[in-house]
Amino acid sequence: MAIFNLNINGTSKQVDVDPNTPVLWVLRDHLDLVGTKFGCGIAQCGACTVHLDGNAVRSCSLPVSSIGNSEITTIEGLSENADHPVQKAWMEHDVPQCGYCQAGQIMTAAALLQQNPNPSDEEIENAMNGNICRCGTYLRIKAAVKTASK
Ligand code: FES
Repeated sequence: MAIFNLNINGTSKQVDVDPNTPVLWVLRDHLDLVGTKFGCGIAQCGACTVHLDGNAVRSCSLPVSSIGNSEITTIEGLSENADHPVQKAWMEHDVPQCGYCQAGQIMTAAALLQQNPNPSDEEIENAMNGNICRCGTYLRIKAAVKTASK
């Protein structure tokens, strides 16, 4: 076990965990930030996506000892009142079906738009195609990302 001081959603949090613990489980089990979901655990599905210094990363495969002072943003910290442009577009397009993948989808889309505010259809597809949705809501996901980019 070791103590880590983490920057999460603009606040400082201290945890005492095994250094190999994936950030996903630090968030969910130690900090009660359960908006970030476990899907595959092997960086293949995108359900666990959070931002590390603004970049979309897969928290299931990121040991807590590897992140240093980087700023972690989770779905809970993306906006004050669920009013990030991607979240608003998500509601407008009624994207989720079961909703399990949506936090990861939204975090991936938000990172894309932060880095590329006006992505082409192809750029949206490339950025989003690693985030799996078992309900197959891909058309609505793409439409929402497009709306959020306007
Ligand atoms: Fe991390 Fe699937 S749970 S990518």
